[in-house]
Amino acid sequence: MHLGVGPARPDGYHELSTVYHAITLHDEITARRGDTLTLTMEGVGAGELALDESNLAIRAARALARHAGVPAHARLHLRKQIPLAAGLAGGSADAAAALVACDALWGTGMTRDDLAAIAAEIGSDVPFLVYGGTALGTGRGETVSPVLARPTTWHWVVAVADGGLATPAVYAELDRLRALRAAPPALGSTDDLLAALRQRDPEVLAAALGNDLQAAALSLRPQLADVLKAGKAAGALAGLVSGSGPTCVFLAYDASEASQIAGALESAGVCREARTATGPVAGARVI
Ligand code: C5P
Repeated sequence: MHLGVGPARPDGYHELSTVYHAITLHDEITARRGDTLTLTMEGVGAGELALDESNLAIRAARALARHAGVPAHARLHLRKQIPLAAGLAGGSADAAAALVACDALWGTGMTRDDLAAIAAEIGSDVPFLVYGGTALGTGRGETVSPVLARPTTWHWVVAVADGGLATPAVYAELDRLRALRAAPPALGSTDDLLAALRQRDPEVLAAALGNDLQAAALSLRPQLADVLKAGKAAGALAGLVSGSGPTCVFLAYDASEASQIAGALESAGVCREARTATGPVAGARVI
């Protein structure tokens, strides 16, 4: 909802002040007993996503086993719907799901906070995906605290692009644009967004949404401007790049507006696929 990016730190990460928001778009991981640790998958990205030790779900399972002092023995199977390298934190969601699934399989008895601490070793936004909901993220994004607001369902349209964008390249592009003074002013504090959430009015929320990485994603992928324009023309209250892109998300007034905007984006041919979603929803959980 708000991705405020500060300057690069000595460790290469950027200081963030972000408001995360979990939506219904999700993947599923099954964990079964096994003699070693293996990962198989089906669905979006099958054949493209590495299933070896570099995979975030495998890394998460190994980290949990190490912390819990148990052998990392499980057969993981991923049913993937979230596109790869899309700016939707799909890999991070899979890592969070692997932590929760292996915790249940191995009976390690970890609390959510324990799992979130392990999650921070895997990636900056993995702790948020352990919790879900709507939450404030600080540090490099790994320090998460829930946003307390009366329950409101927000309606979104998710416009999935062809191909991905590499997160480090998008951060580097933002640094380059800022050095040239060619980036828009930084978003700064999350106060306006948090106040907008409390008002529970989609038009108020629309005016408060923002993403400092958007200018960088647009610079690397100028066609995204057409996606944003098409969503607005179709009646979206706001449109913005999600995370480091290239997915664009749109806030809709209600569910029927969301379906109509998704249909219009698909007919305009500006994206590979447009899906409707709602949020907030829970993070990784056993079903
Ligand atoms: O933490 P994670 O491994 O998901 O980050 C991927 C990359 O995104 C980092 O290597 C870095 O280039 C960039 N990043 C950043 N600042 C952050 C989070 C991520 O520069 N706060």
